Amino acid sequence: MAATWRQAKPGRIARALEVAQQQNSGGWFVAGASGDVGRTKSVARTIAGREIVFWRNRIGTLVAGPGACPHLGALLDNCAVLDGTLYCRWHGLALQESGDQTWSPYRGFDDGVLIWVGLPVQGEPATDRPSLPPRPPLADSVSAVMTELGSCEPQDVIANRLDPWHGAWFHPYSFSHLTVDDSASDEHTLAVDVTFRLSRTWGVPVRAEFSCPDARTIVMRITDGEGEGSVVETHATPLGVDEQGRPLTMVIEATIAHSDRTGFAVARWLAPLLRPSIRRTARRLWVDDLAYAERRYELRARGEFPG
Ligand code: FES
Ligand SMILES: [Fe+2]
Repeated sequence: MAATWRQAKPGRIARALEVAQQQNSGGWFVAGASGDVGRTKSVARTIAGREIVFWRNRIGTLVAGPGACPHLGALLDNCAVLDGTLYCRWHGLALQESGDQTWSPYRGFDDGVLIWVGLPVQGEPATDRPSLPPRPPLADSVSAVMTELGSCEPQDVIANRLDPWHGAWFHPYSFSHLTVDDSASDEHTLAVDVTFRLSRTWGVPVRAEFSCPDARTIVMRITDGEGEGSVVETHATPLGVDEQGRPLTMVIEATIAHSDRTGFAVARWLAPLLRPSIRRTARRLWVDDLAYAERRYELRARGEFPG
Protein backbone atom coordinates (compact mmCIF):
# COMPACT_ATOMS: atom_id res chain seq x y z
CA MET A 1 0.00 0.00 0.00
CA ALA A 2 1.30 3.48 -0.86
CA ALA A 3 1.71 6.07 1.87
CA THR A 4 -0.42 9.18 1.34
CA TRP A 5 1.21 11.75 3.61
CA ARG A 6 2.82 13.62 0.73
CA GLN A 7 -0.60 14.27 -0.81
CA ALA A 8 -2.29 15.12 2.51
CA LYS A 9 -0.91 18.64 2.73
CA PRO A 10 -1.66 20.22 6.14
CA GLY A 11 -2.09 23.69 4.61
CA ARG A 12 -4.69 22.46 2.16
CA ILE A 13 -6.71 20.72 4.88
CA ALA A 14 -6.47 23.82 7.08
CA ARG A 15 -7.71 26.06 4.25
CA ALA A 16 -10.67 23.82 3.50
CA LEU A 17 -11.53 23.79 7.22
CA GLU A 18 -11.35 27.57 7.38
CA VAL A 19 -13.80 27.85 4.48
CA ALA A 20 -16.10 25.29 6.14
CA GLN A 21 -16.07 27.22 9.41
CA GLN A 22 -17.24 30.36 7.65
CA GLN A 23 -20.47 28.67 6.52
CA ASN A 24 -23.35 29.97 8.63
CA SER A 25 -25.01 27.15 10.55
CA GLY A 26 -27.85 29.52 11.51
CA GLY A 27 -27.67 28.23 15.09
CA TRP A 28 -28.95 24.82 13.95
CA PHE A 29 -27.68 21.64 15.64
CA VAL A 30 -28.51 18.06 14.74
CA ALA A 31 -29.79 16.35 17.90
CA GLY A 32 -30.43 12.80 16.71
CA ALA A 33 -32.52 10.66 14.38
CA SER A 34 -36.16 11.46 13.51
CA GLY A 35 -37.16 8.09 14.96
CA ASP A 36 -35.76 9.05 18.39
CA VAL A 37 -38.84 11.18 19.16
CA GLY A 38 -42.22 9.45 19.12
CA ARG A 39 -45.73 10.79 19.68
CA THR A 40 -46.27 9.78 23.30
CA LYS A 41 -43.06 10.63 25.20
CA SER A 42 -40.65 13.54 25.31
CA VAL A 43 -36.89 13.18 24.89
CA ALA A 44 -34.30 15.46 26.55
CA ARG A 45 -30.78 15.96 25.19
CA THR A 46 -27.93 18.30 26.07
CA ILE A 47 -26.86 20.30 23.03
CA ALA A 48 -24.24 23.06 23.09
CA GLY A 49 -24.35 23.02 26.90
CA ARG A 50 -28.14 23.46 27.09
CA GLU A 51 -30.78 20.96 28.11
CA ILE A 52 -33.29 20.66 25.31
CA VAL A 53 -36.60 18.82 25.29
CA PHE A 54 -38.13 17.44 22.11
CA TRP A 55 -41.63 16.17 21.51
CA ARG A 56 -44.23 16.11 18.75
CA ASN A 57 -47.36 18.22 18.41
CA ARG A 58 -50.77 16.86 17.47
CA ILE A 59 -49.87 16.44 13.79
CA GLY A 60 -46.40 15.04 14.46
CA THR A 61 -44.38 18.23 13.92
CA LEU A 62 -41.26 18.41 16.05
CA VAL A 63 -41.30 20.78 19.03
CA ALA A 64 -38.06 21.84 20.78
CA GLY A 65 -37.47 24.00 23.83
CA PRO A 66 -35.59 24.44 27.11
CA GLY A 67 -35.37 21.11 28.94
CA ALA A 68 -36.10 22.37 32.47
CA CYS A 69 -39.66 22.63 33.68
CA PRO A 70 -40.55 26.28 34.44
CA HIS A 71 -42.30 25.18 37.67
CA LEU A 72 -39.53 23.59 39.82
CA GLY A 73 -36.97 22.66 37.22
CA ALA A 74 -37.61 18.96 36.55
CA LEU A 75 -35.80 17.63 33.50
CA LEU A 76 -38.52 17.25 30.91
CA ASP A 77 -37.25 13.86 29.76
CA ASN A 78 -39.56 10.91 29.23
CA CYS A 79 -42.68 12.94 30.03
CA ALA A 80 -46.09 11.85 28.81
CA VAL A 81 -47.31 13.61 25.68
CA LEU A 82 -51.03 13.60 25.00
CA ASP A 83 -52.51 15.22 21.91
CA GLY A 84 -49.37 17.29 21.45
CA THR A 85 -49.30 18.58 25.05
CA LEU A 86 -46.42 17.61 27.31
CA TYR A 87 -47.10 16.88 31.01
CA CYS A 88 -44.19 17.33 33.42
CA ARG A 89 -43.42 14.21 35.44
CA TRP A 90 -43.11 16.01 38.77
CA HIS A 91 -46.41 17.87 39.11
CA GLY A 92 -48.07 17.57 35.72
CA LEU A 93 -47.57 21.12 34.45
CA ALA A 94 -48.80 21.18 30.86
CA LEU A 95 -46.60 22.67 28.12
CA GLN A 96 -47.88 23.59 24.68
CA GLU A 97 -45.73 23.98 21.62
CA SER A 98 -46.49 27.71 21.54
CA GLY A 99 -45.10 28.17 25.08
CA ASP A 100 -46.10 30.99 27.44
CA GLN A 101 -44.46 33.70 29.58
CA THR A 102 -42.50 31.08 31.54
CA TRP A 103 -41.28 28.84 28.73
CA SER A 104 -40.43 29.76 25.13
CA PRO A 105 -39.76 27.15 22.49
CA TYR A 106 -36.64 27.07 20.31
CA ARG A 107 -36.73 26.47 16.59
CA GLY A 108 -37.16 22.77 15.84
CA PHE A 109 -37.01 20.90 12.55
CA ASP A 110 -37.40 17.31 11.44
CA ASP A 111 -35.99 16.74 7.95
CA GLY A 112 -37.33 13.19 7.70
CA VAL A 113 -34.08 11.55 8.79
CA LEU A 114 -32.66 13.83 11.49
CA ILE A 115 -34.00 16.19 14.13
CA TRP A 116 -32.53 19.65 14.62
CA VAL A 117 -32.78 22.41 17.19
CA GLY A 118 -32.12 26.07 16.43
CA LEU A 119 -30.41 27.90 19.31
CA PRO A 120 -29.36 31.53 19.64
CA VAL A 121 -25.61 31.41 18.87
CA GLN A 122 -23.24 34.37 18.70
CA GLY A 123 -21.90 34.89 15.19
CA GLU A 124 -24.52 32.64 13.60
CA PRO A 125 -27.41 34.73 12.25
CA ALA A 126 -30.56 32.63 12.76
CA THR A 127 -32.09 31.05 9.67
CA ASP A 128 -35.58 29.54 9.26
CA ARG A 129 -34.23 26.12 8.32
CA PRO A 130 -30.91 24.29 8.45
CA SER A 131 -29.08 24.43 5.13
CA LEU A 132 -29.80 20.91 4.02
CA PRO A 133 -27.75 19.46 1.20
CA PRO A 134 -29.68 17.78 -1.63
CA ARG A 135 -30.66 14.22 -0.76
CA PRO A 136 -31.86 11.35 -2.91
CA PRO A 137 -35.66 10.85 -2.67
CA LEU A 138 -36.21 9.31 0.77
CA ALA A 139 -39.00 7.05 -0.50
CA ASP A 140 -36.52 5.39 -2.87
CA SER A 141 -33.63 5.20 -0.43
CA VAL A 142 -32.48 3.30 2.60
CA SER A 143 -31.40 5.58 5.43
CA ALA A 144 -29.62 4.80 8.67
CA VAL A 145 -28.30 7.04 11.45
CA MET A 146 -25.24 6.26 13.56
CA THR A 147 -24.06 8.22 16.59
CA GLU A 148 -20.69 8.09 18.31
CA LEU A 149 -19.29 10.32 21.08
CA GLY A 150 -15.82 11.90 21.08
CA SER A 151 -13.75 14.17 23.33
CA CYS A 152 -13.05 16.91 20.82
CA GLU A 153 -14.68 19.88 19.15
CA PRO A 154 -16.83 19.79 16.01
CA GLN A 155 -14.01 21.26 13.92
CA ASP A 156 -11.82 18.22 14.72
CA VAL A 157 -14.49 15.93 13.26
CA ILE A 158 -14.84 18.10 10.14
CA ALA A 159 -11.04 18.31 9.73
CA ASN A 160 -10.82 14.53 9.77
CA ARG A 161 -13.24 14.28 6.85
CA LEU A 162 -11.51 17.11 5.00
CA ASP A 163 -8.51 14.82 4.89
CA PRO A 164 -9.66 12.10 2.48
CA TRP A 165 -6.04 11.04 1.99
CA HIS A 166 -6.01 9.11 5.26
CA GLY A 167 -8.82 6.89 3.96
CA ALA A 168 -6.91 4.19 2.11
CA TRP A 169 -3.99 4.11 4.55
CA PHE A 170 -5.87 4.35 7.86
CA HIS A 171 -8.99 2.39 6.86
CA PRO A 172 -7.67 -0.27 4.44
CA TYR A 173 -10.67 -2.45 5.37
CA SER A 174 -13.03 0.11 3.78
CA PHE A 175 -11.17 2.02 1.06
CA SER A 176 -8.61 1.41 -1.62
CA HIS A 177 -7.38 3.14 -4.79
CA LEU A 178 -8.10 6.56 -3.37
CA THR A 179 -7.07 9.61 -5.34
CA VAL A 180 -8.15 13.23 -5.05
CA ASP A 181 -8.91 14.79 -8.44
CA ASP A 182 -7.19 18.15 -8.10
CA SER A 183 -8.64 19.52 -11.32
CA ALA A 184 -12.18 19.10 -9.92
CA SER A 185 -11.38 20.17 -6.35
CA ASP A 186 -11.03 23.49 -4.53
CA GLU A 187 -11.48 24.73 -0.92
CA HIS A 188 -15.26 24.18 -1.22
CA THR A 189 -15.36 20.75 -2.84
CA LEU A 190 -13.08 17.74 -2.81
CA ALA A 191 -13.60 15.27 -5.64
CA VAL A 192 -12.32 11.82 -4.81
CA ASP A 193 -12.11 8.60 -6.81
CA VAL A 194 -12.20 5.68 -4.43
CA THR A 195 -13.06 2.03 -4.21
CA PHE A 196 -15.34 1.06 -1.33
CA ARG A 197 -14.25 -2.35 -0.25
CA LEU A 198 -17.06 -4.75 0.48
CA SER A 199 -14.80 -7.73 1.06
CA ARG A 200 -11.11 -8.59 0.76
CA THR A 201 -11.40 -9.07 -2.98
CA TRP A 202 -14.53 -7.17 -3.97
CA GLY A 203 -14.92 -3.42 -4.17
CA VAL A 204 -17.06 -0.78 -5.87
CA PRO A 205 -15.26 2.10 -7.59
CA VAL A 206 -17.09 5.42 -7.28
CA ARG A 207 -16.53 9.12 -7.54
CA ALA A 208 -17.46 11.02 -4.41
CA GLU A 209 -17.55 14.72 -3.57
CA PHE A 210 -17.10 16.19 -0.11
CA SER A 211 -18.48 19.60 0.84
CA CYS A 212 -19.57 21.48 3.96
CA PRO A 213 -23.03 23.11 3.81
CA ASP A 214 -22.52 24.50 7.31
CA ALA A 215 -19.69 24.75 9.84
CA ARG A 216 -20.65 21.52 11.65
CA THR A 217 -21.57 19.33 8.69
CA ILE A 218 -19.62 17.55 6.00
CA VAL A 219 -21.42 15.68 3.24
CA MET A 220 -20.09 13.02 0.95
CA ARG A 221 -22.14 12.55 -2.20
CA ILE A 222 -21.61 9.74 -4.70
CA THR A 223 -21.58 11.55 -8.04
CA ASP A 224 -20.70 8.62 -10.28
CA GLY A 225 -20.74 4.85 -10.05
CA GLU A 226 -22.83 2.43 -8.02
CA GLY A 227 -25.21 4.24 -5.71
CA GLU A 228 -24.99 7.57 -7.55
CA GLY A 229 -26.91 10.24 -5.62
CA SER A 230 -26.35 8.53 -2.27
CA VAL A 231 -25.14 10.78 0.53
CA VAL A 232 -23.39 10.39 3.85
CA GLU A 233 -24.05 13.43 6.03
CA THR A 234 -21.70 13.73 8.97
CA HIS A 235 -22.90 16.20 11.59
CA ALA A 236 -20.71 17.17 14.53
CA THR A 237 -22.81 18.42 17.44
CA PRO A 238 -21.13 19.96 20.49
CA LEU A 239 -22.79 18.69 23.67
CA GLY A 240 -20.87 20.49 26.39
CA VAL A 241 -17.84 19.56 28.51
CA ASP A 242 -17.00 16.47 30.61
CA GLU A 243 -15.86 16.44 34.28
CA GLN A 244 -12.31 17.26 33.22
CA GLY A 245 -13.52 20.22 31.22
CA ARG A 246 -12.86 18.55 27.86
CA PRO A 247 -15.34 19.25 25.07
CA LEU A 248 -17.72 16.49 24.06
CA THR A 249 -18.92 16.19 20.50
CA MET A 250 -21.48 13.78 19.13
CA VAL A 251 -20.93 12.55 15.60
CA ILE A 252 -24.36 11.97 14.09
CA GLU A 253 -24.02 10.42 10.69
CA ALA A 254 -26.90 9.82 8.29
CA THR A 255 -26.28 7.46 5.39
CA ILE A 256 -28.95 7.81 2.72
CA ALA A 257 -28.28 5.08 0.19
CA HIS A 258 -29.93 5.21 -3.20
CA SER A 259 -29.60 3.28 -6.42
CA ASP A 260 -31.41 3.23 -9.72
CA ARG A 261 -30.83 -0.48 -10.08
CA THR A 262 -34.00 -2.56 -10.08
CA GLY A 263 -32.63 -4.74 -7.30
CA PHE A 264 -32.61 -1.72 -5.03
CA ALA A 265 -36.39 -1.68 -4.75
CA VAL A 266 -36.03 -5.07 -3.12
CA ALA A 267 -33.25 -3.75 -0.93
CA ARG A 268 -35.64 -1.06 0.34
CA TRP A 269 -37.97 -3.73 1.61
CA LEU A 270 -35.01 -5.15 3.42
CA ALA A 271 -34.17 -1.79 4.99
CA PRO A 272 -34.67 -3.03 8.57
CA LEU A 273 -32.06 -5.70 7.85
CA LEU A 274 -29.71 -3.35 6.01
CA ARG A 275 -29.71 -0.57 8.61
CA PRO A 276 -27.68 -2.43 11.25
CA SER A 277 -24.98 -3.24 8.70
CA ILE A 278 -24.83 0.37 7.43
CA ARG A 279 -24.51 1.51 11.06
CA ARG A 280 -21.85 -1.11 11.79
CA THR A 281 -19.72 0.05 8.85
CA ALA A 282 -20.11 3.72 9.78
CA ARG A 283 -19.30 3.02 13.42
CA ARG A 284 -16.17 1.06 12.60
CA LEU A 285 -14.85 4.03 10.62
CA TRP A 286 -15.77 6.51 13.34
CA VAL A 287 -14.06 4.55 16.09
CA ASP A 288 -10.81 5.12 14.15
CA ASP A 289 -11.71 8.61 13.01
CA LEU A 290 -12.64 9.80 16.49
CA ALA A 291 -9.23 8.69 17.71
CA TYR A 292 -7.84 10.98 14.96
CA ALA A 293 -10.19 13.84 15.91
CA GLU A 294 -9.49 13.47 19.66
CA ARG A 295 -5.76 13.50 19.06
CA ARG A 296 -6.10 16.59 16.88
CA TYR A 297 -8.03 18.34 19.67
CA GLU A 298 -5.47 17.31 22.29
CA LEU A 299 -2.62 18.75 20.24
CA ARG A 300 -4.54 21.96 19.58
CA ALA A 301 -5.32 22.32 23.27
CA ARG A 302 -1.59 21.96 24.02
CA GLY A 303 -0.72 24.42 21.25
CA GLU A 304 1.28 21.69 19.55
CA PHE A 305 -0.76 21.01 16.44
CA PRO A 306 1.61 20.99 13.46
CA GLY A 307 0.84 23.02 10.37
S1 FES B 1 -41.40 20.66 38.19
FE1 FES B 1 -42.63 20.41 36.46
S2 FES B 1 -44.63 20.53 37.22
FE2 FES B 1 -43.40 20.83 38.94
FE1 LIG C 1 -11.59 8.28 8.18
